[in-house]
Amino acid sequence: MLAEQETLRRPTTGIIEELGDVTPAVLRAMAGADNARLRTVAAAFVRHMHAFAREVELTEAEYDVGIDFLNRIGQATHDSHNEGILFADAIGFSTLVCLLNSGNAGATETASALLGPFWRANSPPTANGASIVRSPTPGPELFVTCDFVDTAGRPIADVAVDVWQSSPVGLYENQDETQAEMNLRGKFTTDSAGRISFRSVKPAGYPVPTDGPVGEMLRAQSRHPYRPAHIHFLGFKKRFKTLITQVFVDDDEHLESDVVFGVTRALIGDYRRHDGGTPPAGGVTAPWYTLNHRFVMEAGDAVLPVPPIK
Ligand code: BEZ
Ligand code: FE
Repeated sequence: MLAEQETLRRPTTGIIEELGDVTPAVLRAMAGADNARLRTVAAAFVRHMHAFAREVELTEAEYDVGIDFLNRIGQATHDSHNEGILFADAIGFSTLVCLLNSGNAGATETASALLGPFWRANSPPTANGASIVRSPTPGPELFVTCDFVDTAGRPIADVAVDVWQSSPVGLYENQDETQAEMNLRGKFTTDSAGRISFRSVKPAGYPVPTDGPVGEMLRAQSRHPYRPAHIHFLGFKKRFKTLITQVFVDDDEHLESDVVFGVTRALIGDYRRHDGGTPPAGGVTAPWYTLNHRFVMEAGDAVLPVPPIK
């Protein structure tokens, strides 16, 4: 790689004599970091950023736009909104990192998907079979059963499973004062068959927040802001890689154009409509839906992500 060769070749005066001196000077300045991983990541970041500026022949006006965009991403981030994650999601970076770290670096089908900006760490513990609808919420009733297995197909008991979804009006409870605290969120524990079950409403697709810099970017790129309808799951158990995922509604109009590139084949769910027969619980009127889904957890480290919001 040119920059690396230059680093080795050039004298270390630190005086920039010409354009070609900049990248090696920066790489040299950073080369003393004690942490080897930091050395690797920071050097690659600088090489790619410098190569990017060269490739597009970045103007100073464009540099100003970029810095302002970054600053505004930070300013738009607060306890109940994470514009930084939204940006990483909207440029496919979150999905790329997710797949790089799951399913043999993306080589095999993966049960994982991006976390998104709306996971909260303290969802209410909820018994299997109970409802996560905590305030009046429109939409057809949904009965979900999921089982969690290891890569050999054996059920995994005692997985702590966080579930969260937006209301069918398109907002998560933290975005919507009309919903109860923690509406459509719950924390379940798999039983001895590796299973959780709960009641909810069928999710609907929704637009990601577009009132910040990411919205500006989407409009400038003539992109729609919609996510196909989905439910989020986060499975946590010692000695398994934390499973962060989503299960998508199979007939959603935006399944093939998710604004944040989260849909993989394995995550298209079987949300089955029932127009008759015996409902799964008293007081349920047709149509209702069922979703049965199997998640495979890989062996690995049980590490929780940093919650994007409080
Ligand atoms: C979500 O599904 O909650 C989400 C993911 C990425 C960006 C915005 C929302
Ligand atoms: Fe979501």
